[in-house]
Amino acid sequence: MSDGELVTRTLTLASPEETHRLGVRLGGLLEPGDFVGLIGDLGAGKTHLVRGVAEGAHVPRSEVASPTFAIVYPYSGRIPLYHADLYRLTGYDDLYATGFMDLVGGEGAVLVEWLDRVPEAAPTEHLRVTLAHAGGDARSLKAEAFGVRSVALLTAWLP
Ligand SMILES: Nc1ncnc2c1ncn2[C@@H]1O[C@H](COP(=O)(O)OP(=O)(O)OP(=O)(O)O)[C@@H](O)[C@H]1O
Ligand SMILES: [Mg+2]
Repeated sequence: MSDGELVTRTLTLASPEETHRLGVRLGGLLEPGDFVGLIGDLGAGKTHLVRGVAEGAHVPRSEVASPTFAIVYPYSGRIPLYHADLYRLTGYDDLYATGFMDLVGGEGAVLVEWLDRVPEAAPTEHLRVTLAHAGGDARSLKAEAFGVRSVALLTAWLP
């Protein structure tokens, strides 16, 4: 596969448990510097997937459950995880002011809900996951890898 090739995967998740399991598997694969953008409507399952990722990265459950109104939630697991939700942001300047950009490409992996609100937040090298309602508890998942590392991550996650 060439460097410029866009690698994608699509699948259907029949239940919340299936989404969780997929998240756990991704959490076991993330490395420092990885960036995962999550896109999808309200209730599509972005946070649900991230909870699975946190479990897979051995983040104590209590950390993920702790309620906070911050834009970025730091978790400490096997590696640091930064869980951001850009829903309430209006643009890049807003995000820049939070200090979020200092975390990107740093010592942790970054997971960002509502990446489509501030697409410039994504580094060139990233994994983009789009979730959509597909009737009842079903969700469709599309994953797109941008860059060499993200292709490796995606093909390990969803062979
Ligand atoms: N297959 C599925 N995968 C994930 N979640 C599902 C699925 N089926 C039902 N659900 C339910 O849908 C809801 C998803 O909520 P979640 O908070 O993860 O959405 P979200 O995409 O983060 O929304 P928001 O934009 O509000 O942050 C949960 O209540 C979950 O139990
Ligand atoms: Mg959410």
